[in-house]
Amino acid sequence: MDPADKNAKQKSKPRMICLCNGVSQAKIEGAIASGCKSLGRIFDVTTAGVGACGGSCQPTIKKMLESFEQTGQFPENPKPKNFRRNNRR
Ligand code: FES
Repeated sequence: MDPADKNAKQKSKPRMICLCNGVSQAKIEGAIASGCKSLGRIFDVTTAGVGACGGSCQPTIKKMLESFEQTGQFPENPKPKNFRRNNRR
């Protein structure tokens, strides 16, 4: 596959933040932008953060909320640098 095609394909895929409940970055950003001002409210509205893993995506959602509150912008890549799927060690 041409690397340009691969990049275009990756950009068109929604970035998933909550893998347990299949919640995308765009859905969480939409909830925050439309007035969800606490983690609990975001969890209620999107179902992110309350999945079977126990909430491994919660730090990422918190980072998105804090960034929006402080700057009015969302981080381009909100997952922490040390993010590991399901927090396996
Ligand atoms: S990844 Fe969000 S609750 Fe598990």
